[in-house]
Amino acid sequence: MATKSVLILLLVAAATTFAQKQCCYPSQFEASRGSIVAQVQGGQAMTQKTGYQFAYDYTNRRLGAITYKEDLGVMTKFQDIFEYSQGVEYEIQVKPQVSSCLKRTLNATLPHCIPASATYLGSSYLGDHKLNVDYFQYFESKSSTDYANITITVSQGDCVPFSDVYEGMKDGVPTLEVRGYVNYTSGISDPSKYFTVPSFCQSAKHETPKTQKSPFDKILP
Ligand SMILES: *[C@@H]1O[C@H](CO)[C@@H](O)[C@H](O)[C@H]1NC(C)=O
Ligand SMILES: *[C@@H]1O[C@H](CO)[C@@H](O)[C@H](O)[C@H]1NC(C)=O
Ligand SMILES: *[C@@H]1O[C@H](CO)[C@@H](O)[C@H](O)[C@H]1NC(C)=O
Repeated sequence: MATKSVLILLLVAAATTFAQKQCCYPSQFEASRGSIVAQVQGGQAMTQKTGYQFAYDYTNRRLGAITYKEDLGVMTKFQDIFEYSQGVEYEIQVKPQVSSCLKRTLNATLPHCIPASATYLGSSYLGDHKLNVDYFQYFESKSSTDYANITITVSQGDCVPFSDVYEGMKDGVPTLEVRGYVNYTSGISDPSKYFTVPSFCQSAKHETPKTQKSPFDKILP
């Protein structure tokens, strides 16, 4: 009897361990991301809040993000399109009178999964067992001035991003960033909303950045 319970316990443990392997995000989805960044620059603490609507399209290796900001009564639409397979990024600003577009070389791959180097930290549930989440943490070092401990929380099983915390250095500046993801919908209902490059981008000047920033940083870890 005792042996049987131990065996069942072991099987349960094995099943849970299996469920908490580094998962992969859904292939195509839309969601909104809110974030708050806290940095210390020249002894001054500052915080910045941002919010985006985005479409993640792993199938076609692309990512699109849109946000609106009002400044002195003028509404500006900010749009970023990352076409990984074409190796190009568009940074677009649309204002009532003037619009601008910057084209940049993109030499990166679109992440699809929680990195293999991530460790599983544990699980929790939210609400009255409404949502089960898994926590993973990994250390990412791009250079001596760009590194971070990243904690990612995803829904258990389907791997929908829930939140992430970035603690480290960005361009040599101590940075803490907390991001939350809401309003997930499976699939991309209107791809043209995110991925149609405006005609005025045709004459955009093309930049090749010296250091390739991870564009995915802007949207997902
Ligand atoms: C793209 O990035 C890879 C890895 O960082 C590098 O080896 C390669 O030379 C880069 N290619 C271009 C065209 O910059
Ligand atoms: C990253 O987190 C781990 C565990 O919390 C900690 O031991 C380590 O010092 C952290 N590294 C940095 C660079 O913050
Ligand atoms: C999330 O969805 C609700 C209901 O549709 C909407 O009112 C809210 O503005 C959305 N939030 C964000 C951040 O997009």
